[in-house]
Amino acid sequence: MALQMAEERFAKMFNASPNPMAINRFRDGHFISVNDSFEKITGYSRSEIADNTVASLNLIPNPKDFHNMLKALYKKGGITNQEISLQGKTGQQYVVLLSAESIIVNGEKCILSIITDITERKRIEKEMARLDRLNLMGQMAAGIGHEIRNPMTSIRGFLQILMDKEDCINYRKYFNLMIEELDRANSIITEFLSMAKNKPNQLKLLNLNDIINTLQPLIEADARNSNKNVNVQLEDVPDLMLNDKEIRQLILNIVRNGMEAMLPGGNLTIRTFTDSGVAVLEITDQGKGIDTAIIDQIGTPFFTTKEQGTGLGLAICESIAGRHNADISLVSRPDGTTFYVRFKT
Ligand SMILES: Nc1ncnc2c1ncn2[C@@H]1O[C@H](COP(=O)(O)OP(=O)(O)OP(=O)(O)O)[C@@H](O)[C@H]1O
Ligand SMILES: [Mg+2]
Repeated sequence: MALQMAEERFAKMFNASPNPMAINRFRDGHFISVNDSFEKITGYSRSEIADNTVASLNLIPNPKDFHNMLKALYKKGGITNQEISLQGKTGQQYVVLLSAESIIVNGEKCILSIITDITERKRIEKEMARLDRLNLMGQMAAGIGHEIRNPMTSIRGFLQILMDKEDCINYRKYFNLMIEELDRANSIITEFLSMAKNKPNQLKLLNLNDIINTLQPLIEADARNSNKNVNVQLEDVPDLMLNDKEIRQLILNIVRNGMEAMLPGGNLTIRTFTDSGVAVLEITDQGKGIDTAIIDQIGTPFFTTKEQGTGLGLAICESIAGRHNADISLVSRPDGTTFYVRFKT
């Protein structure tokens, strides 16, 4: 009687638990039972799950995760909060904590697994860390920018005075060059500062395709210099509230990365199209792709793998995208990388 009560209580808890739970036979790994939350997270119904195993449904596609899970089960007889990637029916990915214990069901040894979905928590943690870094960088930039700008302003002033002097007339060319270079440095600082600042953005109703058309000659010249090709394929996209200077910079930063990733002869494709009413900018290169080990660090200020890189290109893109309610994502393969910028409306 006491046992039956215990079983009833267990069954109730099992079914009602907000945590996805499953029971698998130890001998062959077959699912014996899952709860509603498990159906929900995986997207498989109980009948689709029946007679299957974790492996046959490819629920844990990462071989390392799968191996570690089995090792813990066999060696320690259980698992406590092991972080793994879980894949659902339609390929949706979750980061979950898996715990498992052996139990006896109908006289047979089984494994009871309990899952905690931490996908959202992970995402927020990552975002917070990124914002922290951006914030710190902004403060640093503001400090350094100020300290560098003041002496630069003095230098520029004196150069201008000297330039107009009789004695210096022969060196005008050099003075102009020096002033231009100073102005360039100054504009880099301005851009750098704008990244972290939440200044009001000057947005106008513009079309992405017009901005790309204006940039095309510049990009083509860039490509020719390094023996690479550019394809531009523009489909109709809705007008958007854009800051054209910032969008030009976003495009150039992504395009330059693509060019830098390719060997001579490589093709870079810039596309625009509409996907479910949303304007999308797609930039694909035929470079060597991005190593999975560093993919999480892409876009972190100062993260670079290039000798001459500052690692600010994509961080600036991220902040520009943020001000345009746009989202940057990427898909990388060993034969190239595609960046997507989706302008949510
Ligand atoms: N299309 C790409 N193909 C391969 N790797 C890329 C690509 N885009 C970015 N990366 C990687 O991401 C890193 C960061 O890019 P990001 O543009 O932020 O900085 P950077 O290009 O290194 O320097 P900067 O843009 O400041 O000159 C690069 O160093 C590179 O390793
Ligand atoms: Mg770059």
